[in-house]
Amino acid sequence: MSRYRKSEEMLERALRSIPLGSQTFSKSHTQYPRGVSPFFLERGKGCRVWDVDGNEYVDFVNGLASVTLGYCDPDVDTAVARQLQSGVIFTLPHPLEVEVAEKIVEMVPCAEQVRFGKNGSDATAGAIRVARAYTGRDRVAVCGYHGWQDWYIGSTARNRGVPAAVRNLTHTFTYNNAASLHTVLTSHPGEFAAVILEPMNVAAPAPGFLEEVRELAHNHGALLVFDETITGFRFANGGAQELFGVTPDLATFGKGLANGYPVSAVAGPARIMHVMEEIFFSFTFGGETLSLAAALATLEKLQREPVVAVLAERGARLVASLQARIDALALGDVLSVSGHPSWSFLTIRDAPGCTLWELKTLLLQELFARGVLTLGTHNMSYAHRDDDLMTLDAAYADALAVVKDAVEARAAAKFLRCKPLESLFKVR
Ligand SMILES: Cc1ncc(COP(=O)(O)O)c(C=O)c1O
Repeated sequence: MSRYRKSEEMLERALRSIPLGSQTFSKSHTQYPRGVSPFFLERGKGCRVWDVDGNEYVDFVNGLASVTLGYCDPDVDTAVARQLQSGVIFTLPHPLEVEVAEKIVEMVPCAEQVRFGKNGSDATAGAIRVARAYTGRDRVAVCGYHGWQDWYIGSTARNRGVPAAVRNLTHTFTYNNAASLHTVLTSHPGEFAAVILEPMNVAAPAPGFLEEVRELAHNHGALLVFDETITGFRFANGGAQELFGVTPDLATFGKGLANGYPVSAVAGPARIMHVMEEIFFSFTFGGETLSLAAALATLEKLQREPVVAVLAERGARLVASLQARIDALALGDVLSVSGHPSWSFLTIRDAPGCTLWELKTLLLQELFARGVLTLGTHNMSYAHRDDDLMTLDAAYADALAVVKDAVEARAAAKFLRCKPLESLFKVR
């Protein structure tokens, strides 16, 4: 009987009432090969999760990088449980809004003032609206992934439903290629409100790149926005801006801000954030207290304990052992590891007779079977311990051996027990 029988049944059922069967693209069956993957998780503790069939995994996705401390972190959950006794949402703001804003101001270099959203997309959309209002301009230069809303997603291959008039205002540039930003900015002089980028994702910033981006943005009268939805509270307590020493005009946060509770933030200096009072950035649940209690507990724990240092140290060990396995199997033409140790990527390339999608599917099939959840990234959590890294290393030892066999046979498809994933939508 299939290890994933209940997951499969639940997916069939979900697809009848939920388009895509999931609320989130990267949790959907488009990302997990049918027949060899779990589709529903029921429970998590620390860095471990259990699917609806009762299979246990060491999780390296961790709620899409939102769970930085671990599932059901006791400090965070105690704060949430305490807040739950007195109410979730009120008629007027709650003092927690002030306390969390002040905490972010204390931690993040660019932050003098802060507004909250729920998803990262709220924060990026808010930052872009602020930048447009502040500069009186419409165009935006983007680099990386910035969420589901029209202003950004219109610039990607998944732009159906976004009016052409909106799409035409967003221009993409290439990471570590300041010349590409220069070209974009000079294509419409004086029209750019913002340059927004993930300060780092797959590749580290080349020396001087982020500084050059800031200078180019400012020379063209645009604001520099760092999308720190993932890097914030993961690369350093003050985000990538602290780690790399480049302070943007605005920054956005989400994901790990509250260890998986839904809250995001836009932060910046008062002279720019003041524009928030003139635009409309307002929603019923912006001041929802459970997530703010979780945020405060998370940020205090980040300050109290060496969380980001531990993420980086364990992540670096993971990267080193994965790289050693790739080298030992002479798979360097097909696989490479990159990214920050707290958020590293295993990149797969085509090989003769094997598409990268077949190889990726094969890798996932083998890793899931060995109780490891990853989609090719390692989103480190403070709850990962040495034995969890050993579990991952042992799973990679086996899975990479299968990949090696497939590459040598020039026939990955022969090793698959499912249909390969398809290339649908790539943003990094
Ligand atoms: C860098 C970055 N920006 C924005 C977003 C959008 O955040 P959300 O999915 O919470 O709306 C994400 C989500 O993956 C992200 O990684």
